[in-house]
Amino acid sequence: MVEIPKLGLGTYGRTGENGMLAILKALEVGYRHIDTAQSYDTEASVGDAVRRSGLPRSEVFITTKVADTQLDKSRFMDSVEHSLETIGVGPVDLLLIHWPSKNDAIPFEDYMLALAEAQRRGHTRLIGVSNFPGVLLERTERLLGPGVIATNQVEIHPYMQAPKLTAYARSKDLTLTAYQPLCRGAVASDPVLRRIADKHGVSASAAALAFLVAEGHLVIPASASEANLRANWQARDVILDAEDMQAIRALHRGERSINPEKAPIWDD
Ligand SMILES: NC(=O)c1ccc[n+]([C@@H]2O[C@H](COP(=O)([O-])OP(=O)(O)OC[C@H]3O[C@@H](n4cnc5c(N)ncnc54)[C@H](OP(=O)(O)O)[C@@H]3O)[C@@H](O)[C@H]2O)c1
Repeated sequence: MVEIPKLGLGTYGRTGENGMLAILKALEVGYRHIDTAQSYDTEASVGDAVRRSGLPRSEVFITTKVADTQLDKSRFMDSVEHSLETIGVGPVDLLLIHWPSKNDAIPFEDYMLALAEAQRRGHTRLIGVSNFPGVLLERTERLLGPGVIATNQVEIHPYMQAPKLTAYARSKDLTLTAYQPLCRGAVASDPVLRRIADKHGVSASAAALAFLVAEGHLVIPASASEANLRANWQARDVILDAEDMQAIRALHRGERSINPEKAPIWDD
Protein backbone atom coordinates (compact mmCIF):
# COMPACT_ATOMS: atom_id res chain seq x y z
CA MET A 1 0.00 0.00 0.00
CA VAL A 2 1.51 3.33 -1.12
CA GLU A 3 1.15 6.03 1.50
CA ILE A 4 0.58 9.61 0.32
CA PRO A 5 2.08 12.23 2.67
CA LYS A 6 -0.86 14.09 4.19
CA LEU A 7 0.67 17.55 3.98
CA GLY A 8 1.92 18.35 0.49
CA LEU A 9 2.91 21.42 -1.47
CA GLY A 10 0.87 23.05 -4.23
CA THR A 11 2.85 24.58 -7.08
CA TYR A 12 0.24 26.50 -9.08
CA GLY A 13 1.77 29.82 -10.13
CA ARG A 14 5.26 28.90 -8.87
CA THR A 15 6.90 29.17 -12.28
CA GLY A 16 10.45 30.02 -13.26
CA GLU A 17 13.58 30.12 -11.11
CA ASN A 18 11.78 31.68 -8.11
CA GLY A 19 9.15 28.97 -8.22
CA MET A 20 11.81 26.28 -8.35
CA LEU A 21 13.58 27.87 -5.36
CA ALA A 22 10.29 27.88 -3.39
CA ILE A 23 9.82 24.17 -4.09
CA LEU A 24 13.43 23.49 -3.09
CA LYS A 25 12.92 25.46 0.12
CA ALA A 26 9.82 23.38 0.89
CA LEU A 27 11.85 20.19 0.47
CA GLU A 28 14.43 21.61 2.91
CA VAL A 29 11.65 22.39 5.41
CA GLY A 30 10.48 18.78 5.19
CA TYR A 31 7.68 18.62 2.59
CA ARG A 32 7.75 15.28 0.76
CA HIS A 33 4.69 15.54 -1.47
CA ILE A 34 4.56 17.96 -4.41
CA ASP A 35 1.57 18.67 -6.60
CA THR A 36 2.04 19.84 -10.18
CA ALA A 37 0.06 19.62 -13.45
CA GLN A 38 0.63 19.76 -17.18
CA SER A 39 -1.15 23.12 -17.22
CA TYR A 40 0.85 24.79 -14.40
CA ASP A 41 4.16 25.07 -16.22
CA THR A 42 5.85 23.84 -13.03
CA GLU A 43 6.63 20.22 -13.94
CA ALA A 44 10.22 21.07 -14.90
CA SER A 45 10.72 23.12 -11.71
CA VAL A 46 9.48 20.22 -9.59
CA GLY A 47 11.99 17.88 -11.23
CA ASP A 48 14.81 20.44 -10.87
CA ALA A 49 14.02 21.03 -7.21
CA VAL A 50 13.91 17.32 -6.42
CA ARG A 51 17.27 16.76 -8.16
CA ARG A 52 18.86 19.78 -6.50
CA SER A 53 17.58 18.72 -3.06
CA GLY A 54 19.78 15.61 -3.22
CA LEU A 55 16.91 13.61 -1.71
CA PRO A 56 16.49 10.05 -2.95
CA ARG A 57 13.69 9.99 -5.54
CA SER A 58 11.81 7.45 -3.43
CA GLU A 59 11.45 9.97 -0.61
CA VAL A 60 9.44 12.53 -2.57
CA PHE A 61 5.86 11.86 -3.68
CA ILE A 62 5.11 13.61 -6.97
CA THR A 63 1.63 14.15 -8.42
CA THR A 64 0.90 15.47 -11.88
CA LYS A 65 -2.35 15.88 -13.82
CA VAL A 66 -3.41 15.31 -17.40
CA ALA A 67 -4.88 18.55 -18.76
CA ASP A 68 -8.43 18.62 -20.13
CA THR A 69 -6.95 19.48 -23.56
CA GLN A 70 -5.07 16.16 -23.59
CA LEU A 71 -7.88 13.73 -22.74
CA ASP A 72 -8.52 12.55 -26.28
CA LYS A 73 -7.08 9.07 -26.77
CA SER A 74 -4.92 10.31 -29.65
CA ARG A 75 -3.09 12.64 -27.26
CA PHE A 76 -3.41 11.19 -23.76
CA MET A 77 -0.40 8.84 -23.57
CA ASP A 78 1.94 11.19 -25.44
CA SER A 79 1.07 13.93 -22.97
CA VAL A 80 1.83 11.64 -20.01
CA GLU A 81 5.16 10.62 -21.55
CA HIS A 82 5.95 14.27 -22.19
CA SER A 83 5.21 15.06 -18.51
CA LEU A 84 7.62 12.33 -17.40
CA GLU A 85 10.32 13.73 -19.68
CA THR A 86 9.69 17.27 -18.42
CA ILE A 87 9.81 16.30 -14.75
CA GLY A 88 12.76 14.07 -15.54
CA VAL A 89 12.89 11.88 -12.43
CA GLY A 90 11.25 8.70 -13.75
CA PRO A 91 7.64 7.63 -13.23
CA VAL A 92 5.42 9.83 -11.08
CA ASP A 93 3.71 8.61 -7.91
CA LEU A 94 0.22 9.80 -8.74
CA LEU A 95 -1.38 10.72 -12.06
CA LEU A 96 -4.73 12.52 -12.04
CA ILE A 97 -7.33 13.50 -14.59
CA HIS A 98 -7.33 17.27 -13.93
CA TRP A 99 -10.92 17.94 -15.05
CA PRO A 100 -13.54 15.54 -16.43
CA SER A 101 -14.64 16.29 -19.98
CA LYS A 102 -17.85 18.29 -19.79
CA ASN A 103 -20.90 16.42 -21.11
CA ASP A 104 -18.61 13.59 -22.23
CA ALA A 105 -17.34 15.67 -25.16
CA ILE A 106 -14.39 13.30 -24.89
CA PRO A 107 -15.85 9.88 -24.00
CA PHE A 108 -15.38 9.19 -20.28
CA GLU A 109 -14.39 5.57 -20.92
CA ASP A 110 -11.61 6.62 -23.30
CA TYR A 111 -9.67 8.79 -20.90
CA MET A 112 -10.35 6.71 -17.80
CA LEU A 113 -9.13 3.55 -19.54
CA ALA A 114 -6.11 5.51 -20.82
CA LEU A 115 -5.39 6.54 -17.22
CA ALA A 116 -5.45 2.90 -16.11
CA GLU A 117 -3.25 2.01 -19.08
CA ALA A 118 -0.70 4.66 -18.03
CA GLN A 119 -0.49 2.92 -14.67
CA ARG A 120 -0.13 -0.51 -16.31
CA ARG A 121 2.74 0.85 -18.40
CA GLY A 122 4.51 1.94 -15.21
CA HIS A 123 4.23 5.68 -15.84
CA THR A 124 2.73 6.17 -12.37
CA ARG A 125 2.38 4.22 -9.14
CA LEU A 126 -1.15 5.45 -8.36
CA ILE A 127 -3.99 6.93 -10.37
CA GLY A 128 -6.69 9.36 -9.35
CA VAL A 129 -9.01 12.13 -10.43
CA SER A 130 -9.66 15.79 -9.73
CA ASN A 131 -12.83 17.88 -9.80
CA PHE A 132 -15.00 14.76 -10.00
CA PRO A 133 -18.49 14.87 -8.45
CA GLY A 134 -20.01 11.73 -6.90
CA VAL A 135 -21.79 10.73 -10.08
CA LEU A 136 -18.48 10.47 -11.96
CA LEU A 137 -16.85 8.65 -9.04
CA GLU A 138 -19.67 6.11 -9.36
CA ARG A 139 -18.97 5.73 -13.07
CA THR A 140 -15.28 5.36 -12.32
CA GLU A 141 -15.96 2.56 -9.87
CA ARG A 142 -18.20 0.77 -12.37
CA LEU A 143 -15.56 1.06 -15.07
CA LEU A 144 -12.32 0.39 -13.17
CA GLY A 145 -13.54 -1.40 -10.05
CA PRO A 146 -13.63 -0.39 -6.38
CA GLY A 147 -10.55 1.04 -4.68
CA VAL A 148 -8.64 1.68 -7.90
CA ILE A 149 -8.66 5.47 -7.55
CA ALA A 150 -6.28 6.75 -4.86
CA THR A 151 -7.84 10.19 -4.42
CA ASN A 152 -10.18 12.86 -5.80
CA GLN A 153 -8.55 16.30 -5.61
CA VAL A 154 -11.16 19.02 -5.09
CA GLU A 155 -11.60 22.49 -3.63
CA ILE A 156 -11.91 22.15 0.14
CA HIS A 157 -11.11 24.73 2.81
CA PRO A 158 -12.88 25.97 5.94
CA TYR A 159 -15.36 28.02 3.84
CA MET A 160 -16.05 25.17 1.38
CA GLN A 161 -16.07 21.89 3.27
CA ALA A 162 -17.87 19.93 0.53
CA PRO A 163 -20.04 18.03 3.04
CA LYS A 164 -21.94 15.90 0.50
CA LEU A 165 -18.86 14.87 -1.44
CA THR A 166 -16.98 14.21 1.80
CA ALA A 167 -19.79 11.95 3.08
CA TYR A 168 -19.83 10.08 -0.21
CA ALA A 169 -16.03 9.68 -0.21
CA ARG A 170 -16.08 8.39 3.37
CA SER A 171 -18.73 5.83 2.46
CA LYS A 172 -16.36 4.55 -0.25
CA ASP A 173 -13.17 4.81 1.81
CA LEU A 174 -11.88 7.29 -0.77
CA THR A 175 -9.49 10.00 0.39
CA LEU A 176 -10.09 13.53 -0.85
CA THR A 177 -7.19 15.90 -1.48
CA ALA A 178 -8.09 19.45 -0.46
CA TYR A 179 -6.87 21.93 -3.03
CA GLN A 180 -6.71 25.60 -2.22
CA PRO A 181 -6.91 24.57 1.46
CA LEU A 182 -6.07 28.08 2.68
CA CYS A 183 -8.69 29.68 0.44
CA ARG A 184 -5.78 31.47 -1.26
CA GLY A 185 -4.50 32.81 2.05
CA ALA A 186 -7.87 34.17 3.26
CA VAL A 187 -7.96 31.83 6.27
CA ALA A 188 -4.90 33.59 7.74
CA SER A 189 -7.02 36.51 8.94
CA ASP A 190 -10.09 34.55 10.05
CA PRO A 191 -10.92 35.47 13.69
CA VAL A 192 -12.19 31.99 14.65
CA LEU A 193 -9.14 30.30 13.20
CA ARG A 194 -6.86 32.88 14.81
CA ARG A 195 -8.37 32.27 18.22
CA ILE A 196 -7.95 28.50 17.89
CA ALA A 197 -4.45 28.94 16.45
CA ASP A 198 -3.40 31.14 19.40
CA LYS A 199 -4.56 28.44 21.80
CA HIS A 200 -2.25 25.95 20.07
CA GLY A 201 0.61 28.39 19.49
CA VAL A 202 0.50 28.16 15.68
CA SER A 203 -0.73 30.27 12.74
CA ALA A 204 -4.35 30.37 11.60
CA SER A 205 -3.23 28.64 8.38
CA ALA A 206 -1.75 25.76 10.35
CA ALA A 207 -5.01 25.46 12.31
CA ALA A 208 -6.99 25.31 9.04
CA LEU A 209 -4.70 22.62 7.63
CA ALA A 210 -4.80 20.61 10.87
CA PHE A 211 -8.59 20.75 10.72
CA LEU A 212 -8.73 19.46 7.14
CA VAL A 213 -6.31 16.63 7.93
CA ALA A 214 -8.35 15.72 11.03
CA GLU A 215 -11.40 15.53 8.73
CA GLY A 216 -9.52 12.86 6.79
CA HIS A 217 -8.28 14.89 3.82
CA LEU A 218 -4.85 15.33 2.29
CA VAL A 219 -3.85 19.00 1.90
CA ILE A 220 -1.64 20.77 -0.64
CA PRO A 221 -1.18 24.42 0.41
CA ALA A 222 1.09 26.60 -1.74
CA SER A 223 3.56 29.21 -0.59
CA ALA A 224 6.64 30.90 -1.93
CA SER A 225 7.61 32.31 1.46
CA GLU A 226 9.89 30.38 3.78
CA ALA A 227 8.09 31.74 6.84
CA ASN A 228 4.70 30.58 5.53
CA LEU A 229 6.08 27.22 4.41
CA ARG A 230 7.36 26.67 7.95
CA ALA A 231 4.15 27.99 9.56
CA ASN A 232 2.04 25.62 7.44
CA TRP A 233 4.34 22.69 8.17
CA GLN A 234 3.51 23.10 11.87
CA ALA A 235 0.00 21.83 11.13
CA ARG A 236 1.45 18.33 11.51
CA ASP A 237 1.91 18.89 15.24
CA VAL A 238 -1.51 20.38 16.02
CA ILE A 239 -4.16 18.26 17.70
CA LEU A 240 -7.49 20.07 17.69
CA ASP A 241 -10.08 19.23 20.33
CA ALA A 242 -13.77 18.55 19.68
CA GLU A 243 -14.71 22.16 20.42
CA ASP A 244 -12.11 23.48 17.94
CA MET A 245 -13.38 21.07 15.28
CA GLN A 246 -16.99 22.15 15.82
CA ALA A 247 -16.08 25.84 15.63
CA ILE A 248 -14.20 25.37 12.34
CA ARG A 249 -16.94 23.17 10.88
CA ALA A 250 -19.32 26.07 11.49
CA LEU A 251 -17.23 28.27 9.13
CA HIS A 252 -18.55 26.35 6.11
CA ARG A 253 -20.53 28.66 3.82
CA GLY A 254 -20.35 26.88 0.50
CA GLU A 255 -17.88 29.41 -0.90
CA ARG A 256 -16.37 27.97 -4.07
CA SER A 257 -13.75 30.03 -5.85
CA ILE A 258 -12.82 27.70 -8.71
CA ASN A 259 -15.83 27.20 -10.94
CA PRO A 260 -14.87 27.59 -14.61
CA GLU A 261 -17.15 27.00 -17.57
CA LYS A 262 -15.74 23.47 -17.96
CA ALA A 263 -16.71 22.52 -14.37
CA PRO A 264 -19.09 19.60 -13.82
CA ILE A 265 -22.28 19.90 -11.76
CA TRP A 266 -20.94 19.89 -8.21
CA ASP A 267 -22.39 17.96 -5.30
CA ASP A 268 -22.00 20.91 -2.91
N1 LIG B 1 -6.92 20.29 -9.16
C1 LIG B 1 -7.24 21.55 -9.37
O1 LIG B 1 -8.09 21.88 -10.22
C2 LIG B 1 -6.57 22.61 -8.55
C3 LIG B 1 -7.11 23.91 -8.52
C4 LIG B 1 -6.48 24.87 -7.73
C5 LIG B 1 -5.36 24.53 -6.99
N2 LIG B 1 -4.84 23.27 -7.07
C6 LIG B 1 -3.62 22.90 -6.31
O2 LIG B 1 -3.77 23.32 -4.97
C7 LIG B 1 -2.66 24.12 -4.60
C8 LIG B 1 -3.03 25.11 -3.52
O3 LIG B 1 -3.99 26.04 -4.00
P1 LIG B 1 -3.66 27.58 -4.19
O4 LIG B 1 -2.21 27.72 -4.39
O5 LIG B 1 -4.55 28.11 -5.23
O6 LIG B 1 -4.19 28.22 -2.84
P2 LIG B 1 -3.84 28.06 -1.27
O7 LIG B 1 -2.82 27.01 -1.03
O8 LIG B 1 -5.15 27.96 -0.57
O9 LIG B 1 -3.25 29.49 -0.91
C9 LIG B 1 -2.02 29.93 -1.39
C10 LIG B 1 -1.90 31.40 -1.00
O10 LIG B 1 -1.89 31.51 0.41
C11 LIG B 1 -0.76 32.26 0.85
N3 LIG B 1 -0.27 31.61 2.07
C12 LIG B 1 0.31 30.40 2.20
N4 LIG B 1 0.61 30.15 3.47
C13 LIG B 1 0.22 31.23 4.19
C14 LIG B 1 0.28 31.56 5.57
N5 LIG B 1 0.81 30.72 6.45
N6 LIG B 1 -0.21 32.78 5.94
C15 LIG B 1 -0.73 33.64 5.04
N7 LIG B 1 -0.82 33.37 3.71
C16 LIG B 1 -0.35 32.18 3.29
C17 LIG B 1 0.25 32.15 -0.27
O11 LIG B 1 1.04 33.31 -0.33
P3 LIG B 1 2.66 33.23 -0.08
O12 LIG B 1 3.24 32.60 -1.30
O13 LIG B 1 3.01 34.67 0.10
O14 LIG B 1 2.88 32.43 1.17
C18 LIG B 1 -0.62 32.05 -1.50
O15 LIG B 1 -0.97 33.33 -1.97
C19 LIG B 1 -2.22 24.75 -5.93
O16 LIG B 1 -0.93 25.30 -5.85
C20 LIG B 1 -2.35 23.57 -6.84
O17 LIG B 1 -1.23 22.71 -6.70
C21 LIG B 1 -5.45 22.30 -7.81
